[in-house]
Amino acid sequence: MIRVAVIGARGYVGAELLGLLDSHPQVEILAASSRAHAGKSVATVIDGFSNTTLNFTALEPKAVADLKLDVCFLALPNGLATNFVAAIDAASATTTIIDLSADYRFDDSWVYGQPERQRGLVTGAKRIANPGCYATGAQLGLAPIVAQLAEPPAIFGISGYSGAGTTPSRNNDSKILKNNIIPYKLTDHIHEREVSRTLAQQVRFSPHVASFFRGIQLTISGKLKQPMTATELENQFQNYYQNSPLVNISTAAPEVRDAAGKHSLQIGGFTVSEQEPGHFVLVVTLDNLLKGAATQALQNMNLALSLEYKLNEFDGINYD
Ligand SMILES: NC(=O)c1ccc[n+]([C@@H]2O[C@H](COP(=O)([O-])OP(=O)(O)OC[C@H]3O[C@@H](n4cnc5c(N)ncnc54)[C@H](OP(=O)(O)O)[C@@H]3O)[C@@H](O)[C@H]2O)c1
Repeated sequence: MIRVAVIGARGYVGAELLGLLDSHPQVEILAASSRAHAGKSVATVIDGFSNTTLNFTALEPKAVADLKLDVCFLALPNGLATNFVAAIDAASATTTIIDLSADYRFDDSWVYGQPERQRGLVTGAKRIANPGCYATGAQLGLAPIVAQLAEPPAIFGISGYSGAGTTPSRNNDSKILKNNIIPYKLTDHIHEREVSRTLAQQVRFSPHVASFFRGIQLTISGKLKQPMTATELENQFQNYYQNSPLVNISTAAPEVRDAAGKHSLQIGGFTVSEQEPGHFVLVVTLDNLLKGAATQALQNMNLALSLEYKLNEFDGINYD
């Protein structure tokens, strides 16, 4: 069995990851670290969690390192990973660290773990920076056509408020979100930098948050050097992702409800302008907590350790 721990296990991402790891047949969860939940049974907090003997504990970096884990998942707010990484580095060269924050996404000594694009690099990697949620959608929505872009594309994003984490803020305040959409960080968002870096193509990204809980919709608008029809565009995406089971291409534009609660990311709604040659628009949806975080971390673990395990779609979320 692969011995794992989740640090930051109370958070939206950590809790989602614990649930997925609990279902993984080759994984044993040694620890779920949270200060607020310390002492509570994980099964009383996470619906359907099968291990009734595992309790949350508040672990300091040294205690995490002493566990000599096979895989340590860090699901902490940005800026907190370093002490855990340093303690693990000092104690064991064999632990694989998968960091879900942005702390190592710009560090060339870590592998940027985007499984559909970096499969070869992730296999066997020991230090993996999991991509951001919006960044996952934006780069997968642009990767097949990035070489054909004539200018920086514009990405209009709307996220459910779970994207803002559990710490109270304006972006997850239900009173402010009611009947509302909040624009924020309209230039220089960290995911704009992340996508521009990983695609080697400047992009323009304007994020918004709305009152639904989970899911992201990205409407991507750009200009191609050579005009294409919508069908040619769709076919190019179909070909690019033919061996990527967690990316679905559709003719219709996907909506948030099509991706929320699912492991896979949807791309569709390919449209080209009749007035302006080369102008195209497409739509990407994904679940920020799954493909945008926990699912992708699990894909990265499976690849890093060469585990054969297929993720099944969830059917548990009912929106009606
Ligand atoms: N939410 C998303 O959609 C999403 C998607 C992709 C990536 N991410 C990234 O994933 C990470 C976690 O996000 P989240 O939304 O799950 O955040 P969150 O809901 O705010 O959870 C943060 C977690 O970190 C723990 N924590 C907070 N401060 C800590 C400290 N000083 N020392 C130790 N533990 C601390 C919290 O537990 P205790 O306070 O109980 O210890 C909690 O478990 C972030 O870096 C975020 O950017 C988030």
